Amino acid sequence: MHADPSNPPAPESDHLYEKVADKIAQLIAQGDLRAGERIPSVRRMSSQQGVSIATVLQAYLVLENRGMIAARPKSGYYVQPRRRVFPPEPAMSKPAPTATLVGMSGLMGRLIEAVNDPAILPMGAACPSPQLLPTQKLNRILASLSRQAGNDAVEYDMPPGCPALRRQVARRSLDWGCSLSSDDIVTTTGGMEAINLCLRAVAGPGDTIALESPTYFGILQSIESLGMKALELPSHPRTGVCLETLEGELKRQKISAVLSVTNFNNPLGSCMPDNHKKQLTELLARAEVPLIEDDIYGDLAHHGPRPKVARAWDRQGLVLLCGSYSKTLAPGYRVGWVAPGPRFLQKVKHLKYTSTVASASLPQMAVAEFLQNGGYDHHVRTLRATYGEQVNRMCEAIGEHFPSGTRVTRPAGGFVLWVELPKSVNSLQLQDDAMRHRISIAPGPLFSCQQRYTNFVRLSCGHPWSPRMEQGIETLGRLAQEQLDSRARAGAGAAAA
Ligand SMILES: Cc1ncc(COP(=O)(O)O)c(C=O)c1O
Repeated sequence: MHADPSNPPAPESDHLYEKVADKIAQLIAQGDLRAGERIPSVRRMSSQQGVSIATVLQAYLVLENRGMIAARPKSGYYVQPRRRVFPPEPAMSKPAPTATLVGMSGLMGRLIEAVNDPAILPMGAACPSPQLLPTQKLNRILASLSRQAGNDAVEYDMPPGCPALRRQVARRSLDWGCSLSSDDIVTTTGGMEAINLCLRAVAGPGDTIALESPTYFGILQSIESLGMKALELPSHPRTGVCLETLEGELKRQKISAVLSVTNFNNPLGSCMPDNHKKQLTELLARAEVPLIEDDIYGDLAHHGPRPKVARAWDRQGLVLLCGSYSKTLAPGYRVGWVAPGPRFLQKVKHLKYTSTVASASLPQMAVAEFLQNGGYDHHVRTLRATYGEQVNRMCEAIGEHFPSGTRVTRPAGGFVLWVELPKSVNSLQLQDDAMRHRISIAPGPLFSCQQRYTNFVRLSCGHPWSPRMEQGIETLGRLAQEQLDSRARAGAGAAAA
């Protein structure tokens, strides 16, 4: 028999019923309890958790109020389907058409400091949670390799780097529309080194690199450290860089290279359609301008086939393709690679040697072994679906808790969201306020060397969705609303004065 859940007797303590509610909410958030499934009965939960019936009833009432469960007469409590209500998407970006020297090192410190602090809610850096990665399996592989590898584990692994890893990357390139051979590939210390080597291979200090706007700040930082200029191009949250603008700028000014994150751009989430990739490579072939293609998120489509890379349409050897296993396997291993194409292969190998000599051997060997025998495809299938669900959850929570007028991207892959807040919200101030609540976010100006996007933030969905994340989004929404309210009051005060 069920007591009336709308009028439960007093529970033992607020704290306890919230804990019980959070446990169930966590199971729902992780997908262990799905829409339509029955949750444990009040009696069972009470004996399982060692709490009173009243406490469980109060916990279930909280979950009902949050819309997560519903009671069915004489049957029990069931998980409610999620309301999939997403906010609208931002429009095409509109950066100024001038190449700019980059100067943004100061803004990054705080984001980086927060990465390894478990007390801080990790929505700032685009790091996947170790919980979602095959950490134990990789650790086992690494342990067994270090027992068996002998001298190979300690010797310099000279460029082009670990043969087993290059073979595995080459084998997988068929999925992206290329047919690379292991001789086409140079292994690197993460994707960032691959990009840095490519920039140095195709351009020098003072040269202009055209790229999407907004762009991942690590890329802007690399351009800054090499004394190059960045030309930010208008970009659409679905289809990426505006090709008409790029065509016009190629005629108007000297551009030494284009750098594009073609698949699931960070932070925009855009994925360039195949016909755009083809047009882009043809356009750049006509202009004889190299394309540095960063495909670090390409394996992370939430549904459907893995998108191709622009390199698939390259007939002139002008596309330098970069990748890494930081978003799918182990960011800490720092395993990346570049396929520079025939024109730039020797130069990139030489630059690799002169910058860091070689990358660490064991992590490369471990990734190669995982790719060959560790079930990479199965792992990535699960990861893609998980990231997709986490992105949807965060999108919905933003719709629920952020001020009206907020817009959010709806990426089809990867795990970051680009959020446009009402114009008068300052995202640098929001970052300060959020840090006081131990929440890390990435403010918009980080993603532009023109310091644009002052009312944007990038939020990472790389960690499992949980009540703590939901609360974090609620807090961010409240902080943004407080900024709006205080600006409205200040405006009203000034008008009255
Ligand atoms: C678009 C993009 N490129 C490159 C990188 C750097 O990758 P890695 O950690 O492999 O150096 C990142 C990391 O966030 C990224 O988002």
